Amino acid sequence: MTSALKEIINKAENTHELTKDEIVELFANDEITQELCKAADRVREKYVGNEVHLRGLIEFSNICIKNCFYCGLRRDNKNIKRYRLEPEVIIDFATKASSYGYKTFVLQSGEGNIYSLEEMLYIISEIKKLDVAITLSVGEKTEEEYIAYKEAGADRFLLRIETTDKELYQKLHPGMSHENRINCLKTIKKHGYETGTGCLIGLPNQTLESLADDILFFKEIGADMVGVGPFIPNEDTPLSFETGGSFELALKVMAITRLLLPDINIPATTAMETLNSQGRLIALQSGANVVMPNVTEGEYRDLYKLYPGKICINDTPAHCRSCITGKIQSIGRTVSKECGFRKQVR
Ligand code: 5AD
Ligand code: SF4
Ligand code: FES
Repeated sequence: MTSALKEIINKAENTHELTKDEIVELFANDEITQELCKAADRVREKYVGNEVHLRGLIEFSNICIKNCFYCGLRRDNKNIKRYRLEPEVIIDFATKASSYGYKTFVLQSGEGNIYSLEEMLYIISEIKKLDVAITLSVGEKTEEEYIAYKEAGADRFLLRIETTDKELYQKLHPGMSHENRINCLKTIKKHGYETGTGCLIGLPNQTLESLADDILFFKEIGADMVGVGPFIPNEDTPLSFETGGSFELALKVMAITRLLLPDINIPATTAMETLNSQGRLIALQSGANVVMPNVTEGEYRDLYKLYPGKICINDTPAHCRSCITGKIQSIGRTVSKECGFRKQVR
């Protein structure tokens, strides 16, 4: 590795600032991946410690009105059985999972008004009674809806920008607006949510420059959480014959995100584990400090098919909980007993 590359990593580790050109240089060189991941691991330990936060993921409906080119839940995919869990079932999944230790739930679904506002507020406020933090991942909503969810007890919101390359975004998201997505993120932030965003790695025609822009965007928007993962082609979508993203590049994007946003929460994403059987552990040792095990029960795990090869589709929530706890302990880390809000270092 050249000393110039080492210098860039040192600069990132010590100042948490890099230029776009410097980020691209790190992307373009494969021999630095290990050093980069080690630096991100040190920064993770220094700023957010050795605890790993577990967020219980509830995939409560796979119905979606949007048509994102990469996603198996897209409206035009007729090759998928759609479901919509009743509010009582969602609350029941959360209640059971909270009984074995989850302190945060992520409620994720496709987009559209699949539930009325009243139903959403009921679900949020009932789950809130379990004394847990609630993260929503339900897409683009109106400002009034974001405000109402927050008042009902939601603490955090995840909305990936997917890509900051506007032209690419418009191509892959028919009928959607990049501007509106950014506005949604600003609205979410404005109303006091811990705000999560992120991007897909390896989309067709995505450049290294645009991935560098993605990381700088996370900083600019003031992200509290960033989830990144490789794009994995789904055969029921228009992108079925694309190559998809690589594990290594996704890992590098995640590691540089940790270096530049040292105190945020970063999940070791499920898509990383789909490409590499040790993916989540490698991610946890390259900057990540969060895992989002699935607490959805039964056939719904399989039906929530964003991409093929999803892990844990035949496992129970209890099994995943003990599986991931064992893995985390095997690398000398501990599972947090707290909600795991961002500990902002100023
Ligand atoms: N591969 C990887 N991630 C995907 N997502 C959707 N489709 C795919 C795919 N084919 C991601 C999007 C979305 C999140 C819920 O799932 O980034 O924001
Ligand atoms: Fe719907 Fe989200 Fe999939 Fe887009 S990525 S089709 S909004 S579930
Ligand atoms: Fe689900 Fe390991 S986390 S089986």
